[in-house]
Amino acid sequence: MAAFQFLLLLLTLLLLQLSEATRRSLFSLNSNQPFFNGTQWAVLVAGSSGYYNYRHQADVCHAYQILKKGGLKDENIIVFMYDDIANNTMNPRPGVIINSPNGSDVYAGVPKDYTGDYVTAANFYAVLLGSTSALTGGSGKVLATKPQDKIFVYFTDHGGPGILGMPNPPYIFADDFINVLKTKYAMGTYDEMVIYVEACESGSIFEGLIPDDLNIYVTTASNANESSWGTYCPDMTPPPPPEYDTCLGDLYSISWMEDSDWEDLKTETLEEQYLKVKLRTLNNNTEEGSHVMQYGTQSISNETVSVYQGSSTGKLSANPFSSIDSMGVVDQRDADLYSMQQKYKKLTGESQQKEELLNNIKEISTYRAHLDSSVDAIKGELFGDQEHGSMRGEGLPVVDDWSCLKSTIRTFETHCGSLTQYGMKHTRTFANVCNNGVSKEAMDEAAKEACSSYDLGQWDPAVVGYSA
Ligand SMILES: *[C@@H]1O[C@H](CO)[C@@H](O)[C@H](O)[C@H]1NC(C)=O
Ligand SMILES: *[C@@H]1O[C@H](CO)[C@@H](O)[C@H](O)[C@H]1NC(C)=O
Ligand SMILES: *[C@@H]1O[C@H](CO)[C@@H](O)[C@H](O)[C@H]1NC(C)=O
Ligand SMILES: *[C@@H]1O[C@H](CO)[C@@H](O)[C@H](O)[C@H]1NC(C)=O
Ligand SMILES: *[C@@H]1O[C@H](CO)[C@@H](O)[C@H](O)[C@H]1NC(C)=O
Ligand SMILES: *[C@@H]1O[C@H](CO)[C@@H](O)[C@H](O)[C@H]1NC(C)=O
Repeated sequence: MAAFQFLLLLLTLLLLQLSEATRRSLFSLNSNQPFFNGTQWAVLVAGSSGYYNYRHQADVCHAYQILKKGGLKDENIIVFMYDDIANNTMNPRPGVIINSPNGSDVYAGVPKDYTGDYVTAANFYAVLLGSTSALTGGSGKVLATKPQDKIFVYFTDHGGPGILGMPNPPYIFADDFINVLKTKYAMGTYDEMVIYVEACESGSIFEGLIPDDLNIYVTTASNANESSWGTYCPDMTPPPPPEYDTCLGDLYSISWMEDSDWEDLKTETLEEQYLKVKLRTLNNNTEEGSHVMQYGTQSISNETVSVYQGSSTGKLSANPFSSIDSMGVVDQRDADLYSMQQKYKKLTGESQQKEELLNNIKEISTYRAHLDSSVDAIKGELFGDQEHGSMRGEGLPVVDDWSCLKSTIRTFETHCGSLTQYGMKHTRTFANVCNNGVSKEAMDEAAKEACSSYDLGQWDPAVVGYSA
């Protein structure tokens, strides 16, 4: 009797162990994810400031809410945001930020790790490398990752060929960013990393630059030569609530986030998310859409989204707008002027506010025209009517000599004024100056000639800082 009971117990234990192993392997198979016992980390970056860039910080706050709901801990989520939106005098709902027309507040609870002056490229690199000693200001939180950990990085802002914006200069240059990723890989302090980037020409940050053996998988809002798009803008379909004079989100960003809000992330793979986001961001194949791209270690896209964004089971907030196949959008670079013009149209009668707004619109437009015409003049001077200003072939980086690109930008800014978020679109021209071996002196001469009569005023890089 005792022997029989003992046998039964042994058999039960064996069965239990077997089913434990089976369950584990089934779990791995089902979810296409290797079993891992590391920590999930995230870095979220909004690279702009100002009320007319509301959407970038709204995107980042929304991303935080997804990760938080998914079970990531605040100590493992590092947020960069200028934090000038919630209390902005123009914010119709003080203390609240929304990322879609009928969305709820996404600002509550967001950790303020790096805000204001501390939202810098240098702090971003220090955080990625886990280097507290390289930080200036902020909470001191860094990616203190271990070899088995997973990392999710999300960036949203303006950009240009080879660069990403930051509210405090200098900007992020692709070569610096990629070198930081290579260093992080060499340190052996993470298992795998996923990076999502929204910006104009965001593909150019990785194209021809990121090796595919760093265990880093990337998707970008656009390819290397097209803009990305703001959405939920005033007087478009779908519009924000009428009291908002600014766009609430960006097309690629709201596409992945509204997908993550809705899907069961424990079963959806990164590849599936990419395909859905790509389709929605094409915006019914109109010109007002962009091509979402993949770079780096493609096999990672087999894993479930939950490995990076946490295990939210979804279905919590189906967004009624996600089924619209053609969204009203505005080019990132026109979003501020567009919103200001909409606001101007809404203001009735004569008022000081209306006059100031009009002056502001005129000033910004005039400066942009100056940037465009001086870049044209420099191109004409250096290249004549030859087609040297064109693209390099697909798969090639924007430039090979990045220090030449940086010094060319500084030369331009010295004579012609700060690039600003709009002028980032011209970096391909500066890259071509380097790719064609134009001398520093010739570039300096051409920029001086184009801009010597222009009063730089508020756009003097000596005042606002150099972009490079
Ligand atoms: C968990 O991680 C440690 C490394 O910290 C590793 O030695 C161990 O094998 C892991 N366990 C499992 C079940 O993967
Ligand atoms: C916004 O205003 C609230 C209430 O006055 C204050 O507690 C909070 O610190 C302010 N936040 C920022 C970022 O200025
Ligand atoms: C969003 O809210 C507005 C105002 O409350 C309402 O009229 C509209 O139907 C809502 N739209 C959707 C798609 O739920
Ligand atoms: C833009 O880039 C994409 C892929 O990165 C490429 O297929 C396309 O030909 C490029 N367009 C132009 C006009 O060069
Ligand atoms: C996904 O995983 C399968 C099986 O491991 C592999 O054959 C396939 O190539 C992977 N997909 C990608 C895009 O690497
Ligand atoms: C999408 O594009 C097709 C053809 O290009 C057009 O017929 C259709 O009306 C568009 N859908 C929307 C919602 O604009």
